[in-house]
Amino acid sequence: CGIVGYAGSRDALPLLVGGLENLEYRGYDSAGVALVEDDLTLVKRSGQVEELAAAVPDASDATVGIGHTRWSTHGEPTDENAHPHTDCTGRVAVVHNGIIENYDELKRDLREKGHTFASDTDTEVVPHLVEDELAAGKTPKDAFVDVVARLHGSFALAMVVDDGDEIYLARQDSPICVGHGDGETFVGSDVTAFLEHAREVTYLENGDIAVVTPDGVTIEHDGEVVERGVEEIEWEADAAEKGGYDHYMLKEIHEQPRALRQALSGRVDELAGDVDLDVDLPTEYLDSLEEIQIVACGTSYHAGLYAAQLLERYADVRVSVHVASEYEFGGGRDPWRTLAVAVTQSGETAETLSALREAARAGARTLAVTNTVGSTVTRDADETLYIRAGPEIGVAATKTFVSQVATLALLAVHVGRRRDTIPAADARDVLDAIRGLPGAVQQILDTDSQIREVAREYADSSAFFFIGRKLGHPVALEGALKLKEISYDHAEGFPAGELKHGPLALVTDDTPIIAVLTRGANPDATLNSVKEAESRGAPVIGLSSAGRGDKYADAALSVPDLGVMEPLLANVHMQLLAYHIANAKGRAIDKPRNLAKSVTVE
Ligand code: G6P
Repeated sequence: CGIVGYAGSRDALPLLVGGLENLEYRGYDSAGVALVEDDLTLVKRSGQVEELAAAVPDASDATVGIGHTRWSTHGEPTDENAHPHTDCTGRVAVVHNGIIENYDELKRDLREKGHTFASDTDTEVVPHLVEDELAAGKTPKDAFVDVVARLHGSFALAMVVDDGDEIYLARQDSPICVGHGDGETFVGSDVTAFLEHAREVTYLENGDIAVVTPDGVTIEHDGEVVERGVEEIEWEADAAEKGGYDHYMLKEIHEQPRALRQALSGRVDELAGDVDLDVDLPTEYLDSLEEIQIVACGTSYHAGLYAAQLLERYADVRVSVHVASEYEFGGGRDPWRTLAVAVTQSGETAETLSALREAARAGARTLAVTNTVGSTVTRDADETLYIRAGPEIGVAATKTFVSQVATLALLAVHVGRRRDTIPAADARDVLDAIRGLPGAVQQILDTDSQIREVAREYADSSAFFFIGRKLGHPVALEGALKLKEISYDHAEGFPAGELKHGPLALVTDDTPIIAVLTRGANPDATLNSVKEAESRGAPVIGLSSAGRGDKYADAALSVPDLGVMEPLLANVHMQLLAYHIANAKGRAIDKPRNLAKSVTVE
């Protein structure tokens, strides 16, 4: 979910709606705003922000307000369950991300006292609790502080009351930040909420309570005023706009060469065959490493699977990759010789954060690999490695996937050089391939019209199977994920050899096989799988370098020569294929049904 807020002298309504539009990638089941005028005006709707925008009044005098865009956890996405929520008097409005675990018992107590509830949400208890505290004569701030102290769970909260120009904020495990403008202050669950208006940002820490006014923010922790510092955000605001493309996803696919250049910038020492990553992982520590555990979800998990093969090869260390929600540190491992790496674009995925915390509790050293400056994972982890992809708005991750893989490939060389497990000459070859990525990705993007043709031809197929071996396997998984996310078609990825052990039963002349036949993906062996599928009538889309397998492929999409990075290039074809198939079907590409870009609940 996304939170926005504004306190200043401008008309708050368009600023809040604009902020919500920027944040829609965090969820888009329903949206709403609360405006502070003489009394409180609440407008909320199920559906996307544009439906809210159509429902809000044309004009308002409010210069203070809060807003929310929701990804449902408790209660259906209805008008009633949309945020903000209010109390019986309608004086208090609250928006919330996360989960209030003890809301059931709080709700029961409130009901016994005569409160009635309009929604099924956990959030609604908060304004009702505040209502009672205000009735007892407390100031809004004291009421807020006392209510927050009674909440269990993980949350970010923003509250306004009808007779003040303050916004009250609380943070517990769910991010919230404040943007400093000139005589105006913004609130966002992340900086994209207000980036076009404010670049100087203060992030709240766990346990902080903040009072936001047009003049700035006062933050308290355990009743004491604390200074949290101001960070300057470098992202270009227009980097978060569509810039002439029909969809953010397509724009972000086309931004990959630039994203990759940013990921590599200043980090590669070509001559020495080395990498400088500016992370504090001393050579003695890396030398003693026994295992690297990668934890991640979704696309980031696939990037982790790709990286694991490179780390094992170049750094000669055991690597395990864990879906974060399944992670346990487990016995028999030496925590001192274990590095836990959280791969997370947003830096906010709850399951990834929990897994990393578990590893840290067990005593492992922790590294965050993320795109988002100031995100929770950067605060939790011992070290942070940024992938520098720039803001990604489309729910389906594209440029952050290639940037994650490229950055992790640099990490593999970095660790390998320090452990002395990869000679400088070999490292130079790998770095050559990594440095070739921006140009090679551009070459693929230049063949977009060919990929669109292939997509048109196969768009109406009944299912799609993606196969690949070695580095082609994570790419096959990611290709299938991308397609199912945005086209809603049935798509699955397999290690190519597994095709014959079951999935082959599903193969018909209406199920294209998308095969990774590049270097780094054991293409000759995969050709056998291709032939098995082809002889059952399946159309084959071959992604290959050096024309490999073209004679078996009904459609051949080629990949420039780039060594171990070739499977990653095959992924760019798959991104465009998924995009064009989904586009041909008129799907909501940037906001696929039921999904959210950043899932901050477990
Ligand atoms: C959500 C998104 C996926 C993403 C996953 C992990 O499910 O829809 O696209 O891969 O979260 O996100 P992260 O921010 O941790 O990389």
